[in-house]
Amino acid sequence: MRKDIVLLAIESSCDETAAAVVRNGREVLSSVISSQIALHTLYGGVVPEIASRKHIEKINQIIRQALEEAKTTLRELDGIAVTCGPGLVGPLLVGVSEAKAISFATGLPLIGVHHIEGHISANYIENRELEPPFVCLVASGGHSHLVIVKDYGEYEVIGRTRDDAAGEAFDKVARAIGLGYPGGPKIDKLSREGDPEAIRFPRAKVEENAYDFSFSGLKSAVLNYLNGCRMKGEEARAADVAASFQQAVVEVLVEHSMNAVRQYGYDKFAIAGGVASNSALRAAFQKSCAAEGIRLYYPSPVLCTDNAAMIGAAGYYEYLRGARSGLDLNAVPNLKLGEKP
Ligand code: KG4
Ligand code: ZN
Repeated sequence: MRKDIVLLAIESSCDETAAAVVRNGREVLSSVISSQIALHTLYGGVVPEIASRKHIEKINQIIRQALEEAKTTLRELDGIAVTCGPGLVGPLLVGVSEAKAISFATGLPLIGVHHIEGHISANYIENRELEPPFVCLVASGGHSHLVIVKDYGEYEVIGRTRDDAAGEAFDKVARAIGLGYPGGPKIDKLSREGDPEAIRFPRAKVEENAYDFSFSGLKSAVLNYLNGCRMKGEEARAADVAASFQQAVVEVLVEHSMNAVRQYGYDKFAIAGGVASNSALRAAFQKSCAAEGIRLYYPSPVLCTDNAAMIGAAGYYEYLRGARSGLDLNAVPNLKLGEKP
């Protein structure tokens, strides 16, 4: 039997300072998340400089808490996994510097982890039977990727967004309706009171690659609709706008994903990232996957948005593959999936 591998994982790529202790990639011994959402709500979005400072203030305390809750110490660990990109450079640097310092002080191996690989790997935590290959849709505030997960650590990105990410569109539309930041969960909630067929917003197709996404046209269409109402002196029904916008995003995400699952011939499909916690998206995928005999996987909402447990899951499989980072590990804001940090 293989010896247990226990990793400390650190995530600080955006506005969550998070640490977790994960055993053998799938068993979360602790997961602590300190969200800065309240702070950034004041400005309507994440302010990178403020995020960096807050990460510095919080990170030691969060790591200490994660170790305590897992009833372990640095000495008992097998390594440290840390998000090294993509993300905001200042916030990323806080986590990377912290992980390097701990690695230097303890001699523990260091593993730089790709943030999107983390989101995908969140699916392994609660779905013990899930193993590659499968197709995964990653939809977050910064990314909309359709990925073929060929094996642990082996990815082929077959579709990506040409402009705004899905979560970004949710956030921008929410701001326009006056719902505030972060928009995704607020639009999700308001949509339940609205009619998704009330307004027909565009579903964009990208000519050159049928798997690519484009959400900026949809966002502009919503803004134009709101402006049009204002000019006519009419009040737009916010719940209908939210539900119709959400329906347009969901339809595009589902259509592209199901086409990929069909074309590549896999029988497993997973969703990941903040937008994967959207209730309409989950319901639509449940329906489509059930109709086509595809097994659908998704993490619980707390594992969809940024957290360190997912970095521990991804870090474990990288560890098994022999991936080790040196003390020259750097934060790479635009790191590509599959690219070595
Ligand atoms: O994965 P995540 O925490 O951060 C990034 O890596 O970007 O995703 C955050 C994004 C935000 O844009 C947020 O509005 C969106 O996920 N989001 C949602 C929902 N919950 C979070 N979008 C739609 N419906 C939700 N329920
Ligand atoms: Zn994320």
